[in-house]
Amino acid sequence: MLDGKRILLIIAGGIAAYKALDLIRRLREGGAEVRCILTRSGEQFVTPLAVSALSGDKVYRDLFSLTDEAEMGHIRLARDPDMIVVAPATADLMARMRVGRSDDLAAAVLLATDKPVLLAPAMNHRMWLHPATRNNLAVLESRGVLRVGPDSGDMACGEHGVGRMAEPAAIVAVVTARLAGSGRLAGRRALVTSGPTIEAIDPVRFIANRSSGKQGHAVAAALAHLGARVTLVSGPVDLDDPPGVAAIHVDSAEQMLAACRAALPVDVAVCAAAVADWRIANRADQKIKKGDDGPPSLDLVANPDILATLSRPGPGRPILVVGFAAETSDLIENARVKRDRKGCDWIVANDVSPASGTFGGDHNKVVLISNDAPSEWPRMDKRAVAERLAERIADALEAAS
Ligand code: PMT
Repeated sequence: MLDGKRILLIIAGGIAAYKALDLIRRLREGGAEVRCILTRSGEQFVTPLAVSALSGDKVYRDLFSLTDEAEMGHIRLARDPDMIVVAPATADLMARMRVGRSDDLAAAVLLATDKPVLLAPAMNHRMWLHPATRNNLAVLESRGVLRVGPDSGDMACGEHGVGRMAEPAAIVAVVTARLAGSGRLAGRRALVTSGPTIEAIDPVRFIANRSSGKQGHAVAAALAHLGARVTLVSGPVDLDDPPGVAAIHVDSAEQMLAACRAALPVDVAVCAAAVADWRIANRADQKIKKGDDGPPSLDLVANPDILATLSRPGPGRPILVVGFAAETSDLIENARVKRDRKGCDWIVANDVSPASGTFGGDHNKVVLISNDAPSEWPRMDKRAVAERLAERIADALEAAS
């Protein structure tokens, strides 16, 4: 799908630079020509020889190289590619991009380009959450810079949180979607939540639910198929990230909310995740021991409601917010009440009683509840439900513009 496309990959200095080698391989397997800039700090993590061997081209490293300027020139490096991918994108490089520095080859090329730029940020989670980084990113995104990730998980520094570079497959998927992009939702941004959240009791035990992520992932794939730029925020599931989608992996409801907030603004948000309503108040830092006092008692506190948060009126609210209602009785009535309570525009009601097989299964039977009369859809596989929903979303966004 990337046949003949020219990608300029900028590898900045972070431990995730090793993943850039796999990224080069995958982009080339997809048919792309890959040219690489390796920053001085990037060289601390991967060698120019490895980058050159995998890209099949020389590696550009120096702004003031007479030979490079004679052969290519940094302005041509900036203008030739169909897309520039920065992976890993460090906090420092993002800060320099924001203020328009041109103090090395990577920054100069990013300042001189008029091509789409995709960042795959990677950094310690505190650096990622720092107001300076959030602010720099918001400015860059407002200028049209694209982003994939970062993911949540264990970090090289021994800490845990959001900041791991997106996997190479996810980066390739976003590049492919962007460069092949067309469709009814082209130019639109979508946010989809999917899967369960898990809420830790102690370091080894957690509360969870039976969501497989099949329905939410299918919605993300269907929106991307219509050309939307989709961010999928998913709890732990046993599914591959859908192609063409920027996936962010989280565990808990609080992490899911933070990732959703970071993905804004979007035109449409679809909340298909089965978010835990409660988390443990007295979560233990060490594994709880079986003692003589009998079983421990667990105190619960309410989790933030992501759907209600995204639905709140105000600047930056998505044009359309869609929830799912998982019900075991009085499907339409309960779903209506939920829609009113949470303030979303539509709610997709589905029966999740054990006999329905909806949780974890491949099929779903839903009723779409909006301001119009409820629309009952036949039982279909989850992909068909998602495709129909994506078409309805495209209708609504077209009508709204
Ligand atoms: O993942 P699968 O196995 O494919 O199953 C699909 C599904 C049954 C999980 C899916 O179709 C579905 O119904 N998702 C919503 C599940 C749910 O949590 O429903 P709810 O009725 O409890 O919540 C209503 C809405 O509020 C949902 O959009 C939910 O994402 C959202 N919510 C709930 C709680 C919370 N703290 N934050 C939320 O955003």
